[in-house]
Amino acid sequence: MKKELASIVYQIWPRSFKDSNGDGIGDLGGIIEKLDYLKSLNVTYLWLSPVYVSGNYDYGYDIDDYYNINPEYGTLEQFDHLVTEAKKRGIGIIMDMVANHTSSSHIWFKKAMESPDSPYREYYFFKKGKKGKEPNNWISLFGGSAWTKVSEDEYVLTMFAEQQVDLNWENPKVRDGIVEIMKFWLKRGVSGFRYDVINIISKMEGLPDKNPHKKGYQFADDYINSLPKAFDYIEEVMAKVREEFDLFTVGEGMLLTQDAAKRYSDLNNPLFDMMFQFDLALIDCGPLGKYDFRKFYHWTIKEFKSIVRKWQMDMQNRNYWMANYLSNHDQPRHISHYGHDKKYRVESAKAWAMFNFTLRGTPFMYQGEEIGMTDCKLEMNEWKDIEAITDYKVLQSMMKLPAFIAKRVIQKKTRDNARTPVQWSTSAYAGFSTVQPWIKLNPNYNEINVEQQEYDADSILNFYRRLTRFYLDHPVLTFGSWTEILVDHPQIIAYIREDEHEKLQIIINLSAKPVTLLIDEPFGEDLLTTKKEVAPWNHKMVFAPYEGRVSRLKKHES
Ligand code: GLC
Ligand code: CA
Repeated sequence: MKKELASIVYQIWPRSFKDSNGDGIGDLGGIIEKLDYLKSLNVTYLWLSPVYVSGNYDYGYDIDDYYNINPEYGTLEQFDHLVTEAKKRGIGIIMDMVANHTSSSHIWFKKAMESPDSPYREYYFFKKGKKGKEPNNWISLFGGSAWTKVSEDEYVLTMFAEQQVDLNWENPKVRDGIVEIMKFWLKRGVSGFRYDVINIISKMEGLPDKNPHKKGYQFADDYINSLPKAFDYIEEVMAKVREEFDLFTVGEGMLLTQDAAKRYSDLNNPLFDMMFQFDLALIDCGPLGKYDFRKFYHWTIKEFKSIVRKWQMDMQNRNYWMANYLSNHDQPRHISHYGHDKKYRVESAKAWAMFNFTLRGTPFMYQGEEIGMTDCKLEMNEWKDIEAITDYKVLQSMMKLPAFIAKRVIQKKTRDNARTPVQWSTSAYAGFSTVQPWIKLNPNYNEINVEQQEYDADSILNFYRRLTRFYLDHPVLTFGSWTEILVDHPQIIAYIREDEHEKLQIIINLSAKPVTLLIDEPFGEDLLTTKKEVAPWNHKMVFAPYEGRVSRLKKHES
């Protein structure tokens, strides 16, 4: 197996990572400043959410120019400097490849709009409306119709915001254009890409209505999700890039199925090295996704374990590979979602980290999770996330929620929760900037910040450092087999990771209540524990709330 699978990827959402020039906006200079810090976390790759020129309707996921850096973030020279400085520290840079759509200010779209005969029309999906209505009834993933009106009777397909126009991958020029962009950045020394919503690049031929007999907009998932042609397109563009470059690749799969995952990241013939799935992130949501939130329903550890089991077993049995993550820029903070963001914040942050770094697959982490950052309640006038702003209206109009409930759902689910500035210190503006940041700062920065945790050997931050080192030193955690134990336990998740050299047992209490376990001899030897002081192994073991242990078991000599 490719050795790069044993990597640690740290995701940066640049706008909120660190501001270096005092304009309240995170930038490349800020990332460069923090490279030693990132090195201290043993990360091997940095994945940057988009830093290209963008109108920021979707903060970088609406790209105007793929060949330049957003001036708010810096310049190409600074970018090259970042690549060089990161490389010196053994860290590779991974760019975000947004290839499902360009922004409506991209040159291709502008040219397409110049005339109805423009060859650039073929780069997108232009279509005449039906009797003054949209060409079909697909819903946008940000809510409302998936079509944006461009003239009296004509529309263009926009599966996200109206400023994000879906590319027509049927057109070979689009595919070659994407290859060229990748090569441009690989020549500049980047190590690879994260492919944004890559499973939806192919659309059902003819763009037909979904369930024409049902009223209203329809969720077009099965008309866009991993259609056979998507695999062909990816195979083609990746082959062209791989002729010249070796690269690290991870694909984002919206509502990814296991059969599709097998095809995308098959270890024998991978299109991408690994894929992300959304099942854990959507554990408390209905079929329509994140905002179809089962309001006051609480997910259970049993459900959580069954999702973990489903993926761990399948990728092992069918020999494909997944990226593991708990947080990213699209989900609320995982401490607030799965953990305990009050009384057991520190304990639960460590427990979940231990979980994420001991699964089969490649671990990803997201800025701020290493200090246990939490969600932040934003008032309506503080919302920045286009998805939240659109869905606030959709929840009321389509799902008939009263405004005050819609507001609460958004506050719980908005991506802004994960996008507040990283809390570096107790100084003004949390050391993120010298001026008011572009988005609300979480007021808890006096208790939760990097500076304080640096000096506390038992902090979440220092636990992450031990954990990441431990992960890199134990390849069994990447490549070893995964066998669950205590399968039916309602609070504990536990598994054995084993290869020919090593056998590790991981036991983690995912709940806020202590658990007593009856243990047989021979006992394991603790290698890593979430608690500083732990009781010796015994026939009757009490696991404190969110306590986790990785211990070494003797391998049977046979
Ligand atoms: C991906 C990104 C998300 C973005 C969307 C559209 O899901 O992670 O932030 O809004 O694609 O590009
Ligand atoms: Ca700045």
